Amino acid sequence: MSNFQVINHPLIQHKLSILRRKDMGTKVFRELVDEIGMLMAYEVSRDLPLEDVEIETPITTTTQKQLAGKKLAIVPILRAGIGMVDGILKLIPAAKVGHIGMYRDEETLEPHEYLVKLPEDISSRQIFLVDPMLATGGSAILAVDSLKKRGATNIKFVCLVAAPEGVQALQKAHPDVNIYTASLDEKLNEHGYIVPGLGDAGDRLFGTK
Ligand code: PRP
Ligand code: URA
Repeated sequence: MSNFQVINHPLIQHKLSILRRKDMGTKVFRELVDEIGMLMAYEVSRDLPLEDVEIETPITTTTQKQLAGKKLAIVPILRAGIGMVDGILKLIPAAKVGHIGMYRDEETLEPHEYLVKLPEDISSRQIFLVDPMLATGGSAILAVDSLKKRGATNIKFVCLVAAPEGVQALQKAHPDVNIYTASLDEKLNEHGYIVPGLGDAGDRLFGTK
């Protein structure tokens, strides 16, 4: 699978195993999604371009590195994507945050968009599109469609748990989008849930049913 990477960092794998447990309550679930979001951001931002900058230390003038190129935007897919935003912002505090609201019809599994609010200069930003779950891929594909329609060209999709079906669908629809996940799970079940997965990420994050 090209353009696809499983982030195998031991801290991420350990925290993800705790997150999957059905007996984890909302508080711990939220904390773990936040922490894994931050650790994923560290890995996903590895290839951000740097440029030389001249600075003065208390001792001398020197040429050092700073982030260059396109500025970042974090775009969570609501609701569950919201859980990853603060963790990423801890590492990249100057990033702008857009929102795409999306829900899956429980019967058809078709995604429905209900909100799009993005930074004005979205077309010139590197975008981290975030959602803990990539299941059928429908939500991610529609979110990328929506971003591209508004001029976005540089998109990375970051999730925690992916099903092979979703990865294939997203790659087919948007081969230019790099996909990062903390786990590639086994499959989808007959209700469109990821197996073994972690259940409904939005409900577990916000304590709803
Ligand atoms: C979940 C999840 C993804 C989507 C993944 O959201 O957060 O957005 O399902 O499924 P897909 O790959 O098959 O589209 P959900 O629709 O449950 O909305 P919520 O976050 O508001 O609970
Ligand atoms: N959305 C979720 O929150 N969990 C799944 O397993 C599939 C879609």
